[in-house]
Amino acid sequence: MNDRINQLTAEVASFTTDNPAKLEEFRISLFGKKGSITLLFEEFKNIPPQEKRLFGQPLNVLKNNALEKIKALSDTLQKTHTVDAGIDYSLPGSPLISGTRHPVSMVKNQICEIFKRLGFVISTGPEIEDDWHVFSALNFPPEHPARDMQDTFFLNQNPDILLRTHTSSVQVRVMEHQKPPIRTISPGRVFRNEAISARSHCIFHQVEGLYIDKNVSFADLRQTLFFFAQEMFGRDTKIRLRPSYFPFTEPSAEMDVSCSLCGGKGCTLCKHTGWLEILGCGMVDPNVLDSVGINSQEYTGFAFGMGIERIALLKYGIRDIRLLFENDVRFLKQFEPTV
Ligand code: PHE
Repeated sequence: MNDRINQLTAEVASFTTDNPAKLEEFRISLFGKKGSITLLFEEFKNIPPQEKRLFGQPLNVLKNNALEKIKALSDTLQKTHTVDAGIDYSLPGSPLISGTRHPVSMVKNQICEIFKRLGFVISTGPEIEDDWHVFSALNFPPEHPARDMQDTFFLNQNPDILLRTHTSSVQVRVMEHQKPPIRTISPGRVFRNEAISARSHCIFHQVEGLYIDKNVSFADLRQTLFFFAQEMFGRDTKIRLRPSYFPFTEPSAEMDVSCSLCGGKGCTLCKHTGWLEILGCGMVDPNVLDSVGINSQEYTGFAFGMGIERIALLKYGIRDIRLLFENDVRFLKQFEPTV
């Protein structure tokens, strides 16, 4: 009997498994009706009383060891098992929460979509530009204040390499590579060395428009922008053009739309004027056409440029441009995507 007890003690000590069925098999092999330990206890009943003291203690130790081992193994198996048990594969998946588009992207897409309907195609250009595309080709005189360090970010203190201050640089690139007729809009990021405030930022977005063909007139410009204003701000929107100045357009104008908040009656958004300024525009200056090799005797054209953030502020009644750059999720969550 002693040998059997010793043998079983060794078996119990070396047994291990990560399979619950194998553990149960092991338990039954020891404690089942015909289990080795059960049988030893049966045998133990029949041995003479004087020998009982000899075997009783080792037999009990074996039994307790075996019970402890089984419990320990079953505990660890249960732990690893609950991970699996915690997943109910029949449940429907939890929904993926998708983000919303940034209001600047939404307004940009909407502007592009309106002009695409008029046959404009999208073009883009680099954000790091040279003096020619941002200023010289656009008829900026050498002493123009926009070329000043105070307005323009130059790179590596090189006066020829700069961050574009407007997307008008893209119209130069398009005209250099394409023969008229040209009908293009160019959305993109621009950079100006300005103090950040509720009304202005040093990085913002513009959309540039350019239309070059034979016999393009100021009336075409006006009608195109009128269509845009009504599509963007609603059918009741009125526009007005005020004379202005840009080196690359002649004549130049600034366009106002009737205030989308008060309908032109006067409110704090339009500073009680009834009008909101939204873009600059004009007929492309013949000097610009000549500088890119387009015959200004044969072709005329118009151009316009608008700030996307400004339109977003007006459209959504946002009072501080900085909100558009801070990416506060509580702010962004309010915008349901439309485009
Ligand atoms: N580039 C001008 C600006 O940044 C806007 C503009 C574009 C004006 C095209 C006229 C024609 O203010």
